[in-house]
Amino acid sequence: MDEVEAAKQSAGIAACDFVTNGMDVGLGTGSTVKHTVIELGRRMAEEGLDIRGVPTSIETEKLARILGIPLLEWDQVERLAVTIDGADEFDSDFHLIKGGGGALTREKIVAQVSDSMVIVTDPRKDVPTLGEFPLPVEVIQFGWEVTSRHLQNICPGVATRRGGDQPLITDNGNYIIDCKFGPTIADPVSLEAQIRGISGVVEVGLFTNMADAVVIGSNAGTEVRIKPNGRLS
Ligand code: A5P
Repeated sequence: MDEVEAAKQSAGIAACDFVTNGMDVGLGTGSTVKHTVIELGRRMAEEGLDIRGVPTSIETEKLARILGIPLLEWDQVERLAVTIDGADEFDSDFHLIKGGGGALTREKIVAQVSDSMVIVTDPRKDVPTLGEFPLPVEVIQFGWEVTSRHLQNICPGVATRRGGDQPLITDNGNYIIDCKFGPTIADPVSLEAQIRGISGVVEVGLFTNMADAVVIGSNAGTEVRIKPNGRLS
């Protein structure tokens, strides 16, 4: 296993400490949180951990089913105790860019119904200012060319449809437009609201004021940062 994968695995496993018996848990999407889901499945099978999950993508749903993690239907969900998910970037205010895997809308829906959000990541994603990672925006197919132009107008770099002529279709049947802001997103709260105000936009991969802790895996060990005055502090 290479260094980055080992870091992802250590973060993914360490984040399971936020999960205790009886919890309903949001299960994120991506190559880091995959390790969390696998570890939760292991603890259920080997240690009697008793939890139920809500997956943020078809990919995670498949993995959870293979592992035997019971999944809730939406009409059974009141609140979730915690969501554990990955991120593409995070800053010192615990604001995030997410959606590198295209699952941002389901991820935000699940995070919004959760009493806390824990991010699993590695040191490469710790940035002073968000935006080096192209900001994913999920848009409906109808009129996407126009929606994309609106995004282009506020984006200093290019805004391109993911997949080009063979566009990626999200789990919700939509497209993703990746917007290259560069590390310029000094006010992610305003930008999130601005982009959500464009008709045709389903959701934007800025997750502001949602994360309560970041678990950073690395060779040197796992670091857990808790947001001051957050829901886990
Ligand atoms: C999925 O849409 C994303 O939000 C992921 O959680 C994010 O891209 C992090 O993924 P990795 O852990 O694979 O880097």
